[in-house]
Amino acid sequence: MSDATARRRFAPGTTIEDLKAYMGPFVDRLGYKFNTESSFVDDVLASELEILEKTGDVYCPCRVRTGDPKEDVRIICPCISFHRDEFAAIKKCWCGLFILKEVEDGSELFGVIEALSGDVEVPVFRVEDLPPGQVRHVKVGKNDIAVARVGDEFFALSNVCRHAFAPLADGFMDGYHVMCPWHGWRYDVRDGTTDHPDVDVRTYPVTVRDGEVFVTVRIKR
Ligand code: FES
Repeated sequence: MSDATARRRFAPGTTIEDLKAYMGPFVDRLGYKFNTESSFVDDVLASELEILEKTGDVYCPCRVRTGDPKEDVRIICPCISFHRDEFAAIKKCWCGLFILKEVEDGSELFGVIEALSGDVEVPVFRVEDLPPGQVRHVKVGKNDIAVARVGDEFFALSNVCRHAFAPLADGFMDGYHVMCPWHGWRYDVRDGTTDHPDVDVRTYPVTVRDGEVFVTVRIKR
């Protein structure tokens, strides 16, 4: 779906019923259906209408918009086509608005990924989405994470600086270090250590498969 197509489809004045009428058959072809919790479905679609009014598109309410229309097209709802493997693994789209058709009861499957528990490997973006020497923010469940690329290696660490809580992903890379944008603390992206004693940040395992970058987070129920 192109960005331009989405803008035409979801015109101002769109209602929840309009969204349902369009999205239902669309996701049906992809093997999904609306969550069986209809009040949850209505809440999410109401959020999408608010986003539509502000931005002109029905972006997924749970994902961070970058402001780059080419990148953000991947999170226009329903974004299943862009995230099929990820959603197949968790049996639902990111927020749980849509669930696999085979799932009879979707009541455990809404709320980003907190419905899962244990170590969960979550795809965050494609390799080409982060050039070498750069760092970007991703939100995985409740975890604010900075994912850094050094050459062809990827690393993930907490996005929150231990000095005054600046977002590390707004900093810049210097070899294997990310420099905090506010006061310049340097963190080694390989192990989260800094020059200051006892103020390391946590790191997360990262894997790369089939051109997709995965971060593993621990989810407690
Ligand atoms: S907030 Fe990061 S160095 Fe001050």
